[in-house]
Amino acid sequence: MRRSTRAALLATLLSSLALAGCASKPGPGPAAPDAWDRSVAGLPTARAPEQVRLADGASYRLTAAPVAHDPGAGAPIRMFAYNGQVPGPTLRVPQGASVAIELENRLPFNTTLHGHGVRLDAAEDGVPGLSQPAVPPGGTSRYRLRFPDEGVFWYHPHVREDTQQDLGLAGLIIVDGPRAPGEAWPREQALVLDDFLVQGGDAAPYGRDAASRALTGRFGNVLLANGRPGWEGTAAPGERVRLYVLDAANARTFRLSFPGAQAVQWIAADGGYLGTPRNGTSASQFLVSPGERLVLDVLMPERGSVTIRHSTPDAVRDLGWLASRGPPGGGAADAPESPHARARASLAPALARSKEPAQATWELDVRLGPMLASAMPGGPHGAHGGAPRPPPAPIEWEDPAPDMNANATAADVLWIVRDAATGSENMAIQRTFERGSVVNVLLRNLGNSSHPMQHPIHLHGQRFVVASVGGVPNDAPAWKDTVLVPAGSDALITVDMANPGRWLFHCHISEHLEAGMMGTFTVA
Ligand code: C2O
Ligand code: CU
Repeated sequence: MRRSTRAALLATLLSSLALAGCASKPGPGPAAPDAWDRSVAGLPTARAPEQVRLADGASYRLTAAPVAHDPGAGAPIRMFAYNGQVPGPTLRVPQGASVAIELENRLPFNTTLHGHGVRLDAAEDGVPGLSQPAVPPGGTSRYRLRFPDEGVFWYHPHVREDTQQDLGLAGLIIVDGPRAPGEAWPREQALVLDDFLVQGGDAAPYGRDAASRALTGRFGNVLLANGRPGWEGTAAPGERVRLYVLDAANARTFRLSFPGAQAVQWIAADGGYLGTPRNGTSASQFLVSPGERLVLDVLMPERGSVTIRHSTPDAVRDLGWLASRGPPGGGAADAPESPHARARASLAPALARSKEPAQATWELDVRLGPMLASAMPGGPHGAHGGAPRPPPAPIEWEDPAPDMNANATAADVLWIVRDAATGSENMAIQRTFERGSVVNVLLRNLGNSSHPMQHPIHLHGQRFVVASVGGVPNDAPAWKDTVLVPAGSDALITVDMANPGRWLFHCHISEHLEAGMMGTFTVA
């Protein structure tokens, strides 16, 4: 469809959506405190994240509360923070530790704490309806978290992520394995990537009763590193810097490169180290989608700075810089070897099973309501009638239809994960896997759906290895918990079903999760 035709359809669609929006908007109502208040009066100013070391048996309080912070809006706006920090504090725990996190809710909404990727007890997973109930405003709840795996994890609410996570509630968890005696370690730097949608000097409005922008997700117009546009860090000339990268955006996939670096090595993905670090250059590109993590070692130049760059086929945008400053740095010359040796041993049993037939196929699909369906290229029956459509772009780097998307909610679009064996969809899916089994699961992202796009699929409570994507075998396996499935592709994952319980799996585009794209599986 040509742009002009599409624009005309969008205009029609928008006027009907606007009417629907007006009709459902609540009236002014009584003078109850407004949960959606946007004022900053009296709010403390957000601080940059601190690193907090927690020993085995420690207790730590995380308070979620409003703060004033400027995510590129031009002035501080009302955001949410853990312990006054945007992003939240980086929690650092030794492998094998158990800690108690006391979550205090000073938000005007229910919230929870979800330890993303952490193989914790199902009861502590922070998913209302499956584990503890949500914590009401003013309430406190204790989460007992255990950390069996070394790697990079993170925490965020599992209630209306489209709003709560977007407004600042996300933090890293780094779990340290044992260090070989005398092993030198690089300088470390957390790098939480995000974007933010600024409109009229504030956050673009969120859907009150249901997440808006449910079609393609909420893409921001400002890019953030560690909660700030144009973030800058420093390191010594020539130093090795280990970046712990998280994509905490609602919808955006980043493709990173590091112009100015002497070299870049890929060290780890999600919850696990690669068997062997992969050597790259300043021009190598590293993909990270919502919920995924990457550990990258950047070798600083002798002078000058390293740019943290996001490039798509259409645009190049810089997220921040690492400036080399001070005397030439010490620190590790090479990547420490011990975590990689442990990863090789730990991955071997799963890799040996990754060629076995898939025991489950989960299809990724979408059903559009009549208004959106008529505006999509190819019309309501695009997949079946008319001329064949060209193959979808594997990744949507930006919102292709921001106006159409803006007011779309779960009432207009249902995102679907379907168990191919039974046809059951989303929360109706029932699958039980034997505890201790290694199971291949095929994630099939239908390329002929009404709106094919990428989906970062996350399994709670377990770890997996990506065996292949689009039929191409993965030559850099590592333990993961989230995998990006490009539009029209299959991803085959080999799951270590070791952690008992009933667990959620879902797309990590916040708005897709809110528009249905989740199911559960049981390990028993
Ligand atoms: Cu990062 Cu179900 O979550
Ligand atoms: Cu999705």
